[in-house]
Amino acid sequence: MSLDNQDNQGNGQRLAAQQVFGPQAAVYATSKVHIRDDSLESVERMVGAGGANRYRWAVDLGTGAGFTAFAVAGVSDRVVASDVTEPMLRQVQRLGRERGITNLGLSQNAAEALPFAGGSIDLVTSRVSAHHFRDFAKALDEAQRVLKKGGSLLMADSVAPEDDAIAEWMNDIELRRDFSHVENRQVSKIQEMLAGRGFTVVENDYPRIYLRFNEWTARTKVSPEETEALRRDFLEAPAATREAFQVAPVHDDIAFSWPCWVFRAVKG
Ligand SMILES: C[S@@+](CC[C@H](N)C(=O)[O-])C[C@H]1O[C@@H](n2cnc3c(N)ncnc32)[C@H](O)[C@@H]1O
Repeated sequence: MSLDNQDNQGNGQRLAAQQVFGPQAAVYATSKVHIRDDSLESVERMVGAGGANRYRWAVDLGTGAGFTAFAVAGVSDRVVASDVTEPMLRQVQRLGRERGITNLGLSQNAAEALPFAGGSIDLVTSRVSAHHFRDFAKALDEAQRVLKKGGSLLMADSVAPEDDAIAEWMNDIELRRDFSHVENRQVSKIQEMLAGRGFTVVENDYPRIYLRFNEWTARTKVSPEETEALRRDFLEAPAATREAFQVAPVHDDIAFSWPCWVFRAVKG
């Protein structure tokens, strides 16, 4: 495994993600919700982890500590785990070695600037990272460019409810918890963006991402004052909002869940 450091991160635009995720890379490497959850199970099913499909070249965008790349490694000849944050790639390298994965490459690049030739990739994946991409439209353009005709784009990410007021609440909460957050988009908006680029969604799934407030705010080092303000906002949110996110107090913590959309779309 080598770290292919492409200096194409674009005018320091990725700095927020690097500032948030760099110091916390080791924490993400042990985060239960990232190691395994319903969204990863959907991804595994869709890439045919049972052996139904086999890909030559796969690329995982915003790979974090690499858990999606590791799943894809089992069904690909070669997978490139890519991320804008270098310390995350060090975690991927370490965990990949521990798991005995030998067909994994590393690349430091933004999802918006992929260092691959057009029409060269069979599978592009991304899990719980697209809501951090500064320019999601550009990332989709890039996925469309690098994929072979008939290749698959498989994304899993938190999404916002179609109700605009509840979507706004969710994005405000996310941004206060993590200043690198960009947007949880509505499924209808993502569908439009995919169709506009000639992608056809061939399968999809709606798992939930189950979270606990205390661990979730600790992971991004939210200040004590903002943590308490966020806690109040969860508990005092309108009933429809609490229902949409399954908000439930548990002792001194709050259980809640984000809706997630997992899709596989084929390039036409
Ligand atoms: C929550 S982690 C991803 C988790 C991981 N995909 C998994 O399955 O466990 C989000 C990652 O997105 C990366 N990221 C944020 N903006 C990015 C961008 N524009 N391009 C590439 N990676 C980005 C961050 O550095 C971080 O490592």
